[in-house]
Amino acid sequence: MPELDPPIMESLVAVARQAAQAGGAVLEGFAARQVTITRKGPIDLLTEADTAAEHAIVEMIRAVYPDHQILAEERTSEQTSESPYRWIIDPLDGTTNFAHGFPIYNVSIGLEYEGTCVLGVVYDPTRKEQFVAWRHGGATLNDRPIRPSDIQQLDDALLVTGFAYDVRTSPDNNLEEFCRFTLRAQGVRRTGSAALDLCYVACGRFDGFWERKLNPWDTAAGLVIVQEAGGLVTNWNGGPFSIYDKQILASNGKIHQAMIEVLHM
Ligand code: IPD
Ligand code: CA
Ligand code: CA
Repeated sequence: MPELDPPIMESLVAVARQAAQAGGAVLEGFAARQVTITRKGPIDLLTEADTAAEHAIVEMIRAVYPDHQILAEERTSEQTSESPYRWIIDPLDGTTNFAHGFPIYNVSIGLEYEGTCVLGVVYDPTRKEQFVAWRHGGATLNDRPIRPSDIQQLDDALLVTGFAYDVRTSPDNNLEEFCRFTLRAQGVRRTGSAALDLCYVACGRFDGFWERKLNPWDTAAGLVIVQEAGGLVTNWNGGPFSIYDKQILASNGKIHQAMIEVLHM
């Protein structure tokens, strides 16, 4: 496992925090007015806020680390290099919510070093909540340590999930899993913001989260935040999760096996 010297990590975290705040400020600006919306697919929206926030975030990171790789969802300024560092950015996670004025969305910034996710910052500009974690550094919400819930049974658990943009056309659309969990858990929610779903597992607001078809920018930051908070993130078989996998299962650890069983029913 790669290790980074504390002063190097400190600088990386500071830049990630600043970039997340800058992206959040752009989103706040656009939230106050009518935004231009285009479509990437029948129900997959792209607003001018997505691209503007991405520009602001990427510019800020590039100003400090011009040689680092960048993988950003809207690919407005993708950069590949030989650098062992790769920033993975979702400038607006929760675009559908944002487009409707539904205040659940965030900026998500993760960092890989030599292929391992080492740092994550998720900033929710509507609640002014910033989740931050780095490898061996713990996880915080607005600088206070967080940890997952103590819920032991699915029966008592509040779960969350989401659906991919091909939900209308794909047979693997997560609707069967959604029905099964709805009948087993205390409640199931769909926030429309996967990075916040992960952060909410990390801080105990949710007890478990599963989703079928996520992308690296949805999970890179949240993965580190859940792990550092003391939660568990795996694939649907309970094996190691990679952000390049589609299926994710995150929980407080205690209900993980029960969730795997429901996923495979
Ligand atoms: C989406 C959200 C949603 C999840 C989708 C994602 P976007 O990201 O995270 O919760 O269910 O799978 O694509 O498009 O709003 O950045
Ligand atoms: Ca996303
Ligand atoms: Ca997005």
